[in-house]
Amino acid sequence: MLKCILLFAIYIVLAYAAGKDETIQVPACPDTSSVSFTTSVPNGDPCPKTQVDICYTDKSLKLLFTASNETNFYYNPSHQTNDNIWAYEAMEAFISKGLEDPQTYLEYEVSPNNQTFNAFIYNPSRESLPGQPMDHAYISSPFSDGFQVNTQIDKPSSQWKTESTIPLALFNGEHPKSSVWRMNFFRTITGPDIFPKQKLCAWRNPGKANFHITPVFGVLSFV
Ligand SMILES: *[C@@H]1O[C@H](CO)[C@@H](O)[C@H](O)[C@H]1NC(C)=O
Ligand SMILES: *[C@@H]1O[C@H](CO)[C@@H](O)[C@H](O)[C@H]1NC(C)=O
Repeated sequence: MLKCILLFAIYIVLAYAAGKDETIQVPACPDTSSVSFTTSVPNGDPCPKTQVDICYTDKSLKLLFTASNETNFYYNPSHQTNDNIWAYEAMEAFISKGLEDPQTYLEYEVSPNNQTFNAFIYNPSRESLPGQPMDHAYISSPFSDGFQVNTQIDKPSSQWKTESTIPLALFNGEHPKSSVWRMNFFRTITGPDIFPKQKLCAWRNPGKANFHITPVFGVLSFV
């Protein structure tokens, strides 16, 4: 009996490690590698599919997000750069260079009307724990800094897509071949019937209705 329990415990640890260590190989552009997700946070209920095609150049990271099965395309038309687009519908990437569970990372978001949120997050507990510091520093002029974004809504196909360029110099990360990164990707879903409630969808499930849990961030290797 004890042996059984021990073997089961080892199995759980190995399964967890295998999931966490599944490294995504990211090629130089124009090749791409894709990740996609179809489950909600934290319960794992079905979410409409979200795909992120990823590649790098010497100076930037390119992300092509595709939100499928979209019904509401819900955004606040008055929002501008760095407004709270995350309270409506958005697709998001949390990005950090290096293998460690980050305490500081870029939070990048796009809305269906092509607005972006760009801030470095300071989250020293790695889990935005109550009573612990949690701060952010906005990137105030992203488009002067080399960010690019282009968003298209395609209502007949129930899709919206957004193509983003993020400068690697933000991370001291130019010429990134052979470097390793930690990222997570998210999508928020809401609409006039349920706002301000949201459905939260994630690539790597943080296990709580909170995206700022960095030990679950995926590992991406730039090859
Ligand atoms: C979701 O989108 C895919 C691809 O656009 C489509 O094939 C599928 O039928 C859609 N599912 C629903 C439930 O609308
Ligand atoms: C999205 O916004 C960026 C930055 O302002 C702009 O360069 C781009 O042309 C916009 N794209 C669309 C489709 O509106």
